Amino acid sequence: MVLVLALIEASYRVARKAGKWLLNSSNDSLLISFDKSSINSHYWVDFCCIKNRFYTFTTYKRNVMSTAKKDYKRITTKSLIDMKVNGEKISMLTAYDFTMAKIVDSAGVDVILVGDSASNVMAGHETTLPITLDQMIYHASGVVRAIERALVVVDLPFGSYQSDPKEALRSAIRIMKESGGHAVKLEGGSEIKESIKRILNAGIPVMGHLGLTPQSIYKFGTYTVRAKEDAEAEQLIEDAKLLEKLGCFALVLEKIPAALAEKVAKTISIPVIGIGAGGGVDGQVLVIHDMLGMNNEFSPRFLRRYLDLYEQMTKAIGNYVADVKSKDFPNSSEQY
Ligand code: KIV
Repeated sequence: MVLVLALIEASYRVARKAGKWLLNSSNDSLLISFDKSSINSHYWVDFCCIKNRFYTFTTYKRNVMSTAKKDYKRITTKSLIDMKVNGEKISMLTAYDFTMAKIVDSAGVDVILVGDSASNVMAGHETTLPITLDQMIYHASGVVRAIERALVVVDLPFGSYQSDPKEALRSAIRIMKESGGHAVKLEGGSEIKESIKRILNAGIPVMGHLGLTPQSIYKFGTYTVRAKEDAEAEQLIEDAKLLEKLGCFALVLEKIPAALAEKVAKTISIPVIGIGAGGGVDGQVLVIHDMLGMNNEFSPRFLRRYLDLYEQMTKAIGNYVADVKSKDFPNSSEQY
């Protein structure tokens, strides 16, 4: 015990010398980051200090996975704006169900998007158009039940906000009331201005989405990079400024040239989160099934795969099938 205390005290002194400690005033805990480059190494130490000696009671590894400069207990729309001001990048991933959202949240992702990409990855539709408001609410409510820290943003699906502002507000209210989500996301700029205004007036935070807007796929005709031409780029900048002026708390830019996305991020004060929009923006979003490599048929240039789950799951499931067929599973210790 004495040795353990001495070790922790020594670690604390090293950490303090390196200026890498924070006092958590709420529970008298001390966060020691032993190594800045090792993003998973955050240890909490309950301690008391008597005459310059530190007596530690417990140390435990916390689920701190991000390189967050500030330890946000709960992410709000305001935290995201703080992050932009402090130059801290925002991490956002999609999730559509309880189990996945629990993993994403505990890994330290700042924003969980219940995207209408659920239409593709969860239901197997070719586009995002078929998913309904009821289905989005079903997905979002599972996600909300799982999270402790992340901000949950829910897509308003195609057909739930385009026809008129009153319907847009009704749809947004249903999302907030029935799923418990924290904000909604809508695709488009000036053409949906009145709907955005009405939703914001009801106190519902709105995230914008410009560039490639998959709900308009039949208008674009392809999923290729948007706003390469000057006229479309200028319109996009105008729309981004408008969304900021209306009061949106953040903006997603999808599949546009990196230089244009960076220009938008520098022009407006709200956080700009990119997907296929380069590194000059304030944060990044990916579809979780894509970044985990669950879908091996989708390989756009912007996608970084962190796992090859398709391969790993196929192998694991194949092993299970073989074990069942060979009567290896269950064995005597796996039964009652
Ligand atoms: O629905 C979705 O997943 C999205 C992201 C691609 C931004 O809108």
